[in-house]
Amino acid sequence: MDGGYIVLTTIKEITNHVGKEVKLGGWLYNKRSSGKIQFLQLRDGSGFIQGVVVKNQVTPEVWEAAKSLTQESSLYIWGTVRKDERSPIGYELDVTNIKPIQIAIEYPIAKKKHGVDFLMDHRHLWIRSPRQHAILKIRAEIIKSVQQFLDDHGFTLVDPPILTPSSCEGTTNLFHTKYFDEDAYLTQSGQLYMEAAAMALGKVYSFGPTFRAEKSKTRRHLIEFWMIEPEMAFVEHDGNLEVQEQILSYVVQHVLEHCRPELKTLGRDLGRLEKVRAPFPRITYDEAVELLHKEGFEDFKWGEDFGSPHETKIAESFEKPVFITHYPTEIKAFYMKPDPDRPEVVLCADLIAPEGYGEIIGGSQRIDDPDLLAQRYKEHDLPLESYDWYMDLRKFGTVPHSGFGLGLERTVAWICGLDHVRETIPFPRMLNRLYP
Ligand code: 4AD
Repeated sequence: MDGGYIVLTTIKEITNHVGKEVKLGGWLYNKRSSGKIQFLQLRDGSGFIQGVVVKNQVTPEVWEAAKSLTQESSLYIWGTVRKDERSPIGYELDVTNIKPIQIAIEYPIAKKKHGVDFLMDHRHLWIRSPRQHAILKIRAEIIKSVQQFLDDHGFTLVDPPILTPSSCEGTTNLFHTKYFDEDAYLTQSGQLYMEAAAMALGKVYSFGPTFRAEKSKTRRHLIEFWMIEPEMAFVEHDGNLEVQEQILSYVVQHVLEHCRPELKTLGRDLGRLEKVRAPFPRITYDEAVELLHKEGFEDFKWGEDFGSPHETKIAESFEKPVFITHYPTEIKAFYMKPDPDRPEVVLCADLIAPEGYGEIIGGSQRIDDPDLLAQRYKEHDLPLESYDWYMDLRKFGTVPHSGFGLGLERTVAWICGLDHVRETIPFPRMLNRLYP
């Protein structure tokens, strides 16, 4: 049966083998039977296909093998590829032979609805379902396209450390660990190291996991999440925003082009995504506050930070992602450059996704003046010795520079149209969730 003319292929590549006999390795996802025909829903990681077993066209052994298959049993299967208009992928497999590898007993994720906790406890199996498969495929395409864009635009990939001696985004949510006799923290952001790298390589980016011990249990917060952090020498506030809108437009259009079946599986409204093309609207923090006052948040005070309901309300006025710029200096990180015309606000922007998905990018122009940076160290009570090296970047050939962090999971949630970030990452780390 495994003779030379039969190719071991994947479901994704089945189009190349119409009319030919192929061999697939896969799992049984679902099964239907109508007396003399068994319909096997198969998956192999690359896709999903229906295999048709007709009783009087196979040997009794093959018929029995098909009958023995339970949900998530693993198998090799042989069959002839046939075009079929009714199939979601356009092809079916007329099965000629089956070799079960393992018969799975009582697969825990049945077709009935399960609660979130049950599914999260079985995340290692849950990721096999078509919906989770689609999300993970789209996540991978998003990563690929961001890197493609940056690599094609002169950025160099630089890897910052995960273990760090100091904080980047405030000390309240630092993950502490011992580093032999010293204290260390899991990185909250690679930014400070990317600033050093930008002074060496011009345009750089990092892509890696970041950690925040946030006690918040929201649908947008993870403890461990992945960020893409570009940093650019000689780029100022406006240029920083242009790069952000270009990257995001590129990513969304790439996903639309390469992930149609996955977006369809998720039932995503494509019309909303098709509108995501640069330039994006820009409003200042002041304008955003004014908008909130008009839209039912009369009590919001200048100087407060926006929460989820505020961001959602602001986003409702726009079809595309919207930049909110010039936040109050007081509520933003120590490294952000004040607006020279108005030092009570900084040259920063948060990019808010449409449809209530919240902030997906945070970025700013960085302070390049050593004296101002020294002042900020004092105001923010930062231990000078841990930040000596960062000050060196201002002492030795300082230049205007800017950068941003694109949160991968929130971007995936938005593009896939998901309610919660827990489905955007293979094995989420959240408050009360370290398993599996
Ligand atoms: O706005 P943030 O905190 O910015 C920084 O960390 C900067 N140092 C980045 C830089 O300029 N290089 O975080 C950036 C993005 C947010 O917009 C959000 O998408 C994501 O990271 N993010 C989270 N995603 C999931 N769970 C969390 N707890 C997140 N915190 C931030």
